[in-house]
Amino acid sequence: MSTVRKDETAPVRSGSQGLIPAQPGPGEGESVRETARTRSEEAPAQDGGEPGTGAADGTAGSVIAGAGPVGRPGERATVRLRDEGPQEPPRYAPEWLQLREGADAAARAPELLDPLRIRLANLPNRTGGLVVHDLGCGTGSMGRWLAPRLDGAQHWILHDRDPYLLHFAAVASPRSAADGSRVTVETRRGDVARLTPDALAGASLVTASALLDVLTREEAETLADACTGAGCPALLTLSVAGRVDLTPADPLDAEIAEAFNAHQRRDGLLGPDAVTVTCEAFAERGATVRLHPSPWRLGPEQTALTEQWLRGWVGAAVEERPELRDRAERYLSDRLAACAAGTLHVTLHHSDLLALPRPTGGTP
Ligand SMILES: C[S@@+](CC[C@H](N)C(=O)[O-])C[C@H]1O[C@@H](n2cnc3c(N)ncnc32)[C@H](O)[C@@H]1O
Repeated sequence: MSTVRKDETAPVRSGSQGLIPAQPGPGEGESVRETARTRSEEAPAQDGGEPGTGAADGTAGSVIAGAGPVGRPGERATVRLRDEGPQEPPRYAPEWLQLREGADAAARAPELLDPLRIRLANLPNRTGGLVVHDLGCGTGSMGRWLAPRLDGAQHWILHDRDPYLLHFAAVASPRSAADGSRVTVETRRGDVARLTPDALAGASLVTASALLDVLTREEAETLADACTGAGCPALLTLSVAGRVDLTPADPLDAEIAEAFNAHQRRDGLLGPDAVTVTCEAFAERGATVRLHPSPWRLGPEQTALTEQWLRGWVGAAVEERPELRDRAERYLSDRLAACAAGTLHVTLHHSDLLALPRPTGGTP
């Protein structure tokens, strides 16, 4: 039985790059190279930990996949496109990633770019251009934000376990750097939690966005091992910090936030502990780590995103603590009304992290 939402097959727009086709198809896009299936992609993947299911008001269809867990009771998947058995990893709807792209771009911390630029300027072999690995790229929003902010030719290697999203990322990839140099991309399907230093041979930079909180401690340590082993800097952005400020305040805010955070930590995923654990992992391996806040600031201009986020956030809280259901339904209904009226303001705290490992291979 297919559980794909009908509107997932509709064309969507992404960034300024124009129409994203509804269906993935290998070979489309000039500079796209779909790699052969790797052994790692056959393995069970981790669930995504983005906000919550089917919505506290019981309107499961009204939350975009990826904005919250959906599907079978107790299952943490964000969406299942097909029934392919218990090992199928969760999927994130491109519509959800598109909806959040503007808020993500506004939230990202440009303060971390200067130290990154300095490191990149000192790389050996810089003449060949930068090679950037974007892990868990989704539809590619990190590249659309970062590539035009860095000088020089760039080759982006976009990693995700979802070929559907990889296709979107490839066709809507950035084309030029800050100084007009060429930007090319290729896609790699696989499990980024199994990255090795070898896989990063020749890499100038690793990036990820909204990924760390859906990893386990072990996976974050594997990532730190790979980056430090390769001497490769890492810009790991938009990890949830576990704090949300809503205005006007409601007595249930704290309880919902707590239940949501517990939901994120299910099955050993890092959730709101992602930044602390990842910082420690890099620091223990000799890297210098810098952190900067990167909150979403949602107001009357972002009602569509706020609505989806609210449904997912409250839905996850109720999935975690079913006894909240009745109060959460009232809460969600009031919050959605305030959102529609333009009177709700939400600050959803995230952190961006820049890790600068000790250079290897004679870098200054
Ligand atoms: C919340 S989305 C973020 C997507 C994108 N980076 C962005 O900021 O819009 C998380 C992405 O990571 C991917 N992902 C999660 N865990 C993964 C894993 N272990 N291996 C590969 N991809 C993974 C998902 O398929 C999804 O595209």
